Order: sequence, then structure tokens, then C-alpha cells
Amino acid sequence: MTCLARFPHRPLNAFSLVLLGLGTVFGTLHAENRPLYLDPDQPVEKRVEDLLGRLTLEEKISQIHGDSKFSTAPIPRLGVPRRWLSDGPHGVREDVGPHTWSSAGRTDDFATSLPSLSALGSTWNPDLAYAYGEVLGEESRARGKDIILGPIADIARTPLSGRIYEYLGEDPFLVAKLSANYVRGVQSSDVAACIKHFAANNQEMGRATINMDMDERTLREIYLPPFEAAVKEAGVWAVMGAYTKFRGEHCAYSDYLINRLLKGEWGFKGLVMSDWGGTYSTREAALGGLDLEMGTLIPGTEDGRTYDDYYLAMPFLEGIRKGDYPVSVLDDKVRRSLRVMFATHVFDTRKPGALNTPAHQATAQRIAEESMVLLKNDGGALPLDASRITSLAIIGENAVRHNAAGFFGAGVKTMHEITPLEGIVQRAGSRMNITYSTGYSRQPGETNLVERAVAAARQADVAVVIAGLNHSRYLDDEGWDRKNLRLPYGQDELIQRVLQANPRTIVVLISGPAIELGPWLGQVPALLQAHYSGMEGGHALARVLFGDVNPSGKLACTYPKQLMDSPAHALGTYPGTDGTLFYKEGLLVGYRWFDTKGIEPLFPFGYGLSYTHFEYSGLKLVSGTNSQDAVITAEFEIANTGERAGAEVAQLYVHQAHPSLPRPAKELKGFKKIMLEPGEKQKVSIPLDRRAFAFYDPDLKGWVAQAGEFRILVGSSSRDIRLENGFHLSETTVEKQAVP
Ligand code: BGC
Repeated sequence: MTCLARFPHRPLNAFSLVLLGLGTVFGTLHAENRPLYLDPDQPVEKRVEDLLGRLTLEEKISQIHGDSKFSTAPIPRLGVPRRWLSDGPHGVREDVGPHTWSSAGRTDDFATSLPSLSALGSTWNPDLAYAYGEVLGEESRARGKDIILGPIADIARTPLSGRIYEYLGEDPFLVAKLSANYVRGVQSSDVAACIKHFAANNQEMGRATINMDMDERTLREIYLPPFEAAVKEAGVWAVMGAYTKFRGEHCAYSDYLINRLLKGEWGFKGLVMSDWGGTYSTREAALGGLDLEMGTLIPGTEDGRTYDDYYLAMPFLEGIRKGDYPVSVLDDKVRRSLRVMFATHVFDTRKPGALNTPAHQATAQRIAEESMVLLKNDGGALPLDASRITSLAIIGENAVRHNAAGFFGAGVKTMHEITPLEGIVQRAGSRMNITYSTGYSRQPGETNLVERAVAAARQADVAVVIAGLNHSRYLDDEGWDRKNLRLPYGQDELIQRVLQANPRTIVVLISGPAIELGPWLGQVPALLQAHYSGMEGGHALARVLFGDVNPSGKLACTYPKQLMDSPAHALGTYPGTDGTLFYKEGLLVGYRWFDTKGIEPLFPFGYGLSYTHFEYSGLKLVSGTNSQDAVITAEFEIANTGERAGAEVAQLYVHQAHPSLPRPAKELKGFKKIMLEPGEKQKVSIPLDRRAFAFYDPDLKGWVAQAGEFRILVGSSSRDIRLENGFHLSETTVEKQAVP
């Protein structure tokens, strides 16, 4: 069990704790009298059973609940170290606590701040997702962390979600590919990734109490695939249950989601943890499959209660002693924790990690560069020609704001953060006169900001407005959805006025997706979505603006013309009624809705311009290829017909002509990002397996790839299909799910 007094304020290095424990218990260890669990040559399951068998009931209980905000207790007599968890998805979070959310005030907890997950989503580059995870894994090790609380694999269902900037996108296939590689990258450093929030946490409004419901097919086809891929393909070691309820059960211990689906059907062998403060009952948590309870209360602030009062601490232990729960339920939870420890080599030689290295910062910059989405570029307004421009007016608070620090668990304490203004000045300041005006302010009552910005814009060759949101409440902020999709602080009016003063105005958006844009959109020559782009974001932005980097990001979420065009809002389901939200739109999330219903978006899913042009040709559907599972492989060519090198994301969508159950107009089933020199042409191959043709049939409890006609659509966005071909699937197959 745990008590506050025993808690060391500085995490001891795991290895030193092991040695400390072993030194006291076993003295000098010789191979012949070394306990089996310490023998790295033994199979993991044997080591787990050996160590489990040595634990007392109390020691077992100590492993299934927190003993500080982000740790579980050590067992020194056996050399089990304190286990450290850390947010978050965008970099290893600064240390808090240990028993509060406040900063620990350390000076050694700086970390690389990577671009937000919405930026990673827009790269459409699984290699970069792996690199992203690798940085996190290495930095977690260097900071002494064992489990990193990421990636987020929740689907962007409503653009209002306060955490949408932490999401990878609206499409399950894209999110699955990226989150699986993120997991692989993290876990390559002897650190467990923790994919979250399983499984229906798609908005912040009411998240602590709301009950989510949807039909089974929607669950399987839209919301589960990223989690399923993380478990089955990437071997993720931890899963965090969502705060929300699902069909009346708390997600973190929903018998259906955790016991039957995750652990039963998918065979997940790792551990399930609660979100912080997301546990409300001993019985339900114990029997519903929760293995680790975190963040339930803050000792010292809540009636003198301690970590022993956690639902899975003393109350559970007492229940076991009274015979209310079999010890096997506890053993299963502990086994899962130990398995993760052995899998991440906690008792063996562990990778040391690396922190704040130039290589990590270069990765952050590369991801930022590849994530930026060029939404509009009339008359070649971008890239800016540094040899011709003599003056530049930079406008907007986001040009100088540090966004990496937050919000909350998604923020990172960085050694530096290059702002857009710094990036632009470093890139071009010696060649041109650059002015800066705030233009708008979060503080009411500031006057003349617009006038000053307009005057600066009028005098400059080009004006660049760095607009957007900023993690303030309701503006990309955990716990609070946005109230609308418009730009705050009068930015629409500001942009309009700047444009009137200088038609050569470029608008850059720093935000999560999506923004409803004002009438100025028709007049502004160039618009760039730059996301929250991490510690090197300013450099990345400058390089894109001046053409050192050719933008290759594509939207991972549809931008609606107006909020009411998007499904959760068009159907009036958001934010739920009387504590329940039924996902009435079913499968029609994001572009599936817009394309099936024929609604014109502002910018479609998969969309993004380049400084060069790509031509697609020669789509062939080839059977019997080298990929084992492929039913067919789509082969085609892409040529760079412009004058700059650039990368294109070729997207493949599948349409079934006459399905026995209704299907969306098209579904993404493959993509590939390729880099092409000017004039270069490359062959692209995208294999399609049975799952690519299948839908989930709730009656058959399986994935049905139905014989019949399909269209294979290949394009540069979901609405820019360049090549099309028909395919006849000759045989129906059902991939049954082993629902227990
Ligand atoms: C968030 C999680 C996060 C946890 C710990 C919760 O509020 O939902 O994503 O990992 O806090 O900071």
C-alpha cells in the first residue's frame, strides 16, 4: 500500500532502484541463485508468473493504483521500481506534483515539443509518425518514464471538439496507420505507449458524465479501427479508457469494450488504465477490466484521503479479503502490469534514451514542414520571393505567441520555441524590412491595434497575418469545446481591413481543424493551415512561405462551410440530450457525410495544394501481386509536371456499387506519399486486402467482403479524383469476429 511520507520527490532512476532492491534482498547475485524473473533469457510469461508468485496481496494491490499523480509504488524488497507515467501526446510533459497538478518546478524536465497530432495527421506520412514516436520514446527513457500517454486515436467527429488539435483526423484508416506507427516508434525505446481514449470520447462537452451510444457497425467501422490496429498490428502495451460512458458503462471498465472486445476478441495482453479521475466504483472497476486506477483524488486536498482510498486500493483489498472478489481478478490485473514491465525491459538492460537532441528538434521541424496545408494560392502568391520583396508586415498575436506550452497535458516545456515572427526574421530579416503589429488582442479594451496593423500593411510589399486560436478556454482547450467555428477577437474584420489596405496579404492559421472563414476568403490570394507546429514551427513556417520547402500537407479533417453542415450538428445530436448522445449520423462522419449527402465543403478531406503540379495516369488493377494478403494492387503513375521538387499524397478510395447494407459514397483504403523531382515520374502501388472491400455486418458479427462491383478511385483529395477503374470481386467472404 502507499502513503505520502514514503514518496520521494525526485524519480529515482529505475535501474538504480532495481539495484537498490536487489542489493538488500539478494546480496551479490550469481546466475545460479538469481530468481527466475530476473533472468532475461527466460520467456516473459514465465518471468511474470515467477514474480507474481512472490508478491503479497498488499504488494499486488500497490501495482494497480497510483501512488502519486503519475506513478505507481515500488516494491523495493523485490527490486520492482516505481513506475512512471507521463503525458503526453506531443512531447514528454513537464513533471508535476507529486500530489498536485502544479508544476514540480524542476529545471531538468525540458523536452522536445513536437507539432500537435492534428499536424502529424496532415502529413499523411506514416514514416513521420514512427519518427514522432521514436522521439517520444527516447525522451521518455531519458526522463525516466515507463509509459507515455499517447497517441490519441479518437476520431474527429465534431469540429467543435476542444481537443481536436490532439486528434489525428476524421478517417479511421488514416488515423489507424499513423497511430500504429507512433506506437511502434515509442515502443522501440523500451517504453510503453498508451493509446487513448478508448472508445467514444469525441467531444469535451460533458465528457465526465455523458453516455455515448451508436450502432455496432459504426463502432466497428469508424471508432475502433485505430485501437484495433494498435493492438493487433503494433502491439501497444497500454490502453487508456475514456471518461465517457459507452452504452451505460464507464469506458474504462465497460464489460463490453474492455473484457469482451479489447481483451477477449482482440486478445490484448497489456494493461488498461483509467483516465485521471475516471473511476467511480470498486466493484465495476474490478470486474469491468480496469487494471490501473489513476488520478482519482488529490490526497491532502480531499478530506484527508490518501491513495489507499482509491477504489482499487483498500476497498478492493477488503473486498478480496471478504471473498467478494476472487484473487484471480487481482492476479490478472497485476500480471498485465508485470507483463508490460518485462516487455519494456524494466528489470534488464534498458535503452538509455536521449533528450532535447538536435536530431529530435530536426524531426520536429521536418514534421512541421510536411504538415502545413496550402489551402489557397491564387496567382502564385506563395512562395514569397525574398529577392524581390523589400518589406513585410507581420500581423497577429499568434506571430509571437508560444503555443507549445499548452494546454494542460498536451503542452510541453521546451528549451525554446521559434515563433512565426522569429522564424521569418531569421530567414529573411537581413534582406528586407520586417515590421510586427499585434493586430488583435485577447485583452478587451486595447484600442488602435487594427489601425496600426492596417497602416503597417499599407506600407509593406506583402502582409502576412498569423491568425487562429491559442489554447485559451473554448479555443483548442481540453475540457471545453469551442462555441463556434469562427475566428475570435475580431480577426475576420482585421483580415478584411488588412486586405483592403494591401491585396498582397497572406493568411496563416495556427489552430486545430477546422475554422469557418469570413468573406475575406474570396479575396485573399493565399491561405496556409499551419496547425500548432511545435518548438521549430517558426522555422518550418518561414521555409514554407519562402519556398525552401514545398508544402505537402493534406487536410485530415473536412472544413465545412458552416458548422451546421457537419453531421453531428446537422442532425442536432451534439452535445447530447439528457446525458446521452446517440451518434445518429452513423458511418457518415467527415467526408463520408459530405460526399454521400452531396454537401459542398469549404475544403475537402485530403485536400492541399503544392507549389508544383502532379499528373496521374495509367490506373491498372493487378491481381496476384507480391503482397500476401492483397486481393488486388492498384498501380498508377504520378508525374511532377511543375518546376519544383514536391511531395504528393495519392489517395485511394473504394466505392461499392450495390452493397447489401448501405455504405458511404467512398471510403479511404490506401494512400502513399511520394517525393518527386521536377519532371520525374514514378510508379505507385497500393495493395488492397479483403478488409479494404469489407463492411461490418452486425448480424453476422464479421467483416463481409461482398462479391460484386467496386469502383477504385484514385486522387489528390476526396473530391479531386483523377483516376477511376472498376473491379469485380468474385467471391463473398466473411471474416468472423470471435465475440465471446
Ligand atoms: C486527459 C488525458 C491525460 C490525463 C493525465 C486527462 O484529463 O484526458 O488525456 O493523459 O488527464 O494528464
